[in-house]
Amino acid sequence: MIAVKEESLKKTLKDVFGYDRFRGRQEAVINNLMAGRDSFVIMPTGAGKSLCYQLPAIIQNGTAIIISPLIALMKNQVDQLVAFGINARFLNSTLSKAEINRVRKDTLEGHTKLLYVAPESLTKEDNVTFLKKANISFVAVDEAHCISEWGHDFRPEYRRIRDILSQLDNELPIIALTATATPKVQLDILKNLDMHDAETFKLSFYRKNLYYEVRPKQHAKKQLIKYIKEHKNKSGIIYCLSRKKVEEIANLLNVNDIKTAPYHAGLEAAVRIKNQDDFLNEEVDVIVATIAFGMGIDKPDVRFVIHYDVPKSLEGYYQETGRVGRDGLEGNCIMFYSHNDILKLEKFHKDKSVTERENARVLLNEMASYAESSVCRVRQLLHYFGESFEKDCGFCDNCVRPREKFDGKEFVELVIQTAVLTGERFGMAHLVKVIRGSENQYVKSYEHDKLDVFGKGSEDTEEFWKSVIRQSLLMEFLEKDIDYIGVLKVTEKGDSFIREPFNIQLTKDHDFSDLGEEESEKEVMVGKAYDETLFEMLKKLRKQIAKVKGLPPYVIFQDPSLEEMATTYPTTIQELEEVIGVGKGKAAKFGEEFVNTIELYVEDNDIITVTDVRIKSAINKSRNKVFIIQQIDKMMDLEEIADAKKLSMDDLLEEIESIISSGTKLNLNYYIDQVIDEERQEDLYDYFLNVETDSIKVALEDEDNMDYTEEEIRLIRIKFLCEYAH
Ligand SMILES: Nc1ncnc2c1ncn2[C@@H]1O[C@H](COP(=O)(O)OP(=O)(O)OP(=O)(O)O)[C@@H](O)[C@H]1O
Ligand SMILES: [Mg+2]
Ligand SMILES: [Zn+2]
Repeated sequence: MIAVKEESLKKTLKDVFGYDRFRGRQEAVINNLMAGRDSFVIMPTGAGKSLCYQLPAIIQNGTAIIISPLIALMKNQVDQLVAFGINARFLNSTLSKAEINRVRKDTLEGHTKLLYVAPESLTKEDNVTFLKKANISFVAVDEAHCISEWGHDFRPEYRRIRDILSQLDNELPIIALTATATPKVQLDILKNLDMHDAETFKLSFYRKNLYYEVRPKQHAKKQLIKYIKEHKNKSGIIYCLSRKKVEEIANLLNVNDIKTAPYHAGLEAAVRIKNQDDFLNEEVDVIVATIAFGMGIDKPDVRFVIHYDVPKSLEGYYQETGRVGRDGLEGNCIMFYSHNDILKLEKFHKDKSVTERENARVLLNEMASYAESSVCRVRQLLHYFGESFEKDCGFCDNCVRPREKFDGKEFVELVIQTAVLTGERFGMAHLVKVIRGSENQYVKSYEHDKLDVFGKGSEDTEEFWKSVIRQSLLMEFLEKDIDYIGVLKVTEKGDSFIREPFNIQLTKDHDFSDLGEEESEKEVMVGKAYDETLFEMLKKLRKQIAKVKGLPPYVIFQDPSLEEMATTYPTTIQELEEVIGVGKGKAAKFGEEFVNTIELYVEDNDIITVTDVRIKSAINKSRNKVFIIQQIDKMMDLEEIADAKKLSMDDLLEEIESIISSGTKLNLNYYIDQVIDEERQEDLYDYFLNVETDSIKVALEDEDNMDYTEEEIRLIRIKFLCEYAH
């Protein structure tokens, strides 16, 4: 009998899905589910969790309810199932009333094998009434980590699932599945779904084919384009944190001839669906997305996932990188990291409740320590999800390019002793304070300043000690308390270590602290990634030309323009026009000699970079800018323009400056004549004619300009630049 059943499972697997054998523990899970027992499935991304409920749903009588958090994910799965000839449907907010009725009717008539439901829809009363009448085979809760507020992707509606299921039928078997749950979150899932007797099926999260790398976020746009061009025609996903960033990067890539679509929750549903389909159908190679995209999405041959911004948690990170290499072949996971991004994210949570803020902070800290650590990435990730992985992967960036190691015995000893002496009731920050001998009210109120260990590590920095503690966690001398978030306890291994210490090697963290703010379009080239020799040559040339024309050099081209030329090596006038701050006018007027110089230089030095990394920036005439240009043409007062766009005068001037710096000429004389009298105008004008720099700051500091306001100086500078530079 059992043999027959086994045969029929395999047959369905082959007949319906076309696979010859089960993967991992799929078969065991399926048997458990079909025997009517609850199952908890924790397997890595891409392991094939879906099949664990899809196959039984087909075999069993009735309809399986699949609770799934994302509309995009439901669509992806339903499309795949329908392609296999399976009757799968979904219920979510994208459906019209008529469509909903059709789905319900089909289900009640017993035609639907799998019904995907968004948690919001599940909790709606008329859906509950409908589901009560349906013949349900079992319930699957996919992406079950969404149930836990300790995890990264908490959905409050997930908390109500148990309640609704009890209203339907308390005996319904449940299968909960996730790839991104820390031990604490796993416990939370079992508790919330009230499935304590569930059989747990757990596989290692280790995915051998994934390459993990963290890069400093410097010249990130350039790095990004270079990377994608090196992976031509391959599928990839770029994750950004904000919708605005998504649009900006998608635009940048398209302008650079990379077929790209954006994806974020601000797009209309129809556009989102189209963009996802375009990506899945390979109409575009790259999708730039917020975290609204991806969870559970299955495109087998995604070759790279790049995090342009740092993710908010390691769970999110693992989940998102999980989209890559699902066919078992090459999969690259690159993250651009700057500590500044972490600080920015911390600010996001300012207005949240204390608990939410604290949770977010804990997750973010884990993220930062992952990025900054020079320990094997895979080891860190697996440890985070509660797996012990003794060796290094030998494959990630930290394994391939190891940092120097140092003898860590005494440092680890001190850390463990401090944890013991403070009663194993504190977190990393407090331990570091005690070790470094910093007094604060907590340290004092617990009298930890009287401990032997107090101040023993004062010679090393806070970052150093945090890194030692993190590595002690990885080596399992310490562990995180599962009930009290943040609290660190000493393990048995830690106990025996301080009784009998032995030599251990620690590594120094990477230093990402001095990366400035993320570069804006204008600053793309800061930090001397440019060719300094060529830059100096161009500067000389600029000076010569300026002299001949009797103009200050910056009127010809400003430094950022020269830096970009020394990076992208434009050798034609058209290419030059794309350089920041150049524009058609200037390119025609001053460009030729620059282009010639660059061409000679490129030939002399065998530079092949021209087609290599050329960043074209999109012509940025945002709506505001177009409006401003039109209004100035109509000679409107600047105050009125500012009012109409709800801009401060400062912001308006900034917009105007950016308009003229990208080559558009504006005539503001009608306004300037009103607000600054002629003599004063001439005075300032002379000033700009005779100085080496057009910096507003320098102008303000100049004694001759004492009588002028910043606004006046900026207005005259605008006038000056328009008249001379275009
Ligand atoms: N037995 C099998 N043999 C071959 N391929 C399989 C098998 N089971 C599943 N797959 C394939 O594995 C891929 C990943 O499956 P699936 O989308 O279910 O992953 P998942 O575990 O849900 O991952 P995630 O956590 O990212 O949602 C799919 O392309 C699927 O068709
Ligand atoms: Mg899945
Ligand atoms: Zn490694």
